[in-house]
Amino acid sequence: MGEVFKRGEVAIHFSRAEHLYAAWPVPTCIISDGPYGVSGFPGDERTARNLAEWYRPHVQMWSVRASPVTTLWFWNTEVGWANVHPVLASLGWEYRCCNVWDKGMSHVAGNANTQTLRKFPVVTEVCAHYVRRAEFRVDGRVATMQEWLRHEWRRSGLPFHAANEACGVQNAATRKYLSADHLWYYPPPEAFTRMADHANERGRPAGRPYFSVDGERPITSREWERMRAKFDCKVGVTNVWREPQVAGGERVKGERRAMRYKFRSLHGSQKPLVFIDMTVRACTDPGDVVWEPFGGLCPGAVVCHHLKRGYVAAEIIPEFYQAAAHRLALA
Ligand SMILES: C[S@@+](CC[C@H](N)C(=O)[O-])C[C@H]1O[C@@H](n2cnc3c(N)ncnc32)[C@H](O)[C@@H]1O
Repeated sequence: MGEVFKRGEVAIHFSRAEHLYAAWPVPTCIISDGPYGVSGFPGDERTARNLAEWYRPHVQMWSVRASPVTTLWFWNTEVGWANVHPVLASLGWEYRCCNVWDKGMSHVAGNANTQTLRKFPVVTEVCAHYVRRAEFRVDGRVATMQEWLRHEWRRSGLPFHAANEACGVQNAATRKYLSADHLWYYPPPEAFTRMADHANERGRPAGRPYFSVDGERPITSREWERMRAKFDCKVGVTNVWREPQVAGGERVKGERRAMRYKFRSLHGSQKPLVFIDMTVRACTDPGDVVWEPFGGLCPGAVVCHHLKRGYVAAEIIPEFYQAAAHRLALA
């Protein structure tokens, strides 16, 4: 398994991530900031063309180890993410939103000859937001949560409008929770339990239990709650995140032995702590586990240490691993 640096519930491994996934605790959040296809750091792919195949074995393992409560933040360039999106979608990751890191004009100041580049200067990266899709079996095939709710209610033999009576509302339950179209809403645990109780008390006796995954008993309110990723954010935050490239005291300085020159910045792709803090807070609670499989300088380690989340990361370049461990020790 290789060397590991630990501080409390936060661990940084000097190892390839793919060797660790099977042993890591189940994640509530995965921060992926791996290859971009721009030769940006050692081991990065030279182009974005092969990124889908590079990521596939990682995404496969994330899908196996995640649960429907898991959120994935997938950092990349726009075209890198576009190449990997089909792999994520086909392996059970539901796309929520694309967040754009706008680094601002200072990122290109004096350094963008658009007549040579023949394009607008690029000052962005993306952080695409996914959640692990909850999947149900219906008649031998995989169904979405929306399809399964409709299927179970229909199976009970009750008319769709009876969901309103179950939830004690005029028409909102049928319209929101049993809708077949894109205006469907996830029933909050209390509404789900009321619908499940109603179907099991008044639905056709022969088909009971309704709203069950094991065929033995209906899903409990607590289990239902864990079939959806957490999300919470401050009012006024949008999907455009404006923040300059990491600089000053936050920028980790140093040199790599393999390089001939001393760089003032140790890692070319260091992420601002403010974004990692915001994304971890948005989808986890204290005690939840965060994975950062392509750690680099492991910003998640610093954030998770302060926010009291469990955390595991992997990094394969010795200087990055050591710098990340040092950073965590001082956090
Ligand atoms: C884009 S950088 C991450 C930067 C990081 N988010 C930060 O803020 O410092 C990707 C890192 O993944 C590491 N890496 C590449 N392949 C890996 C693998 N299979 N397992 C673990 N780390 C890997 C690289 O060495 C590189 O440091």
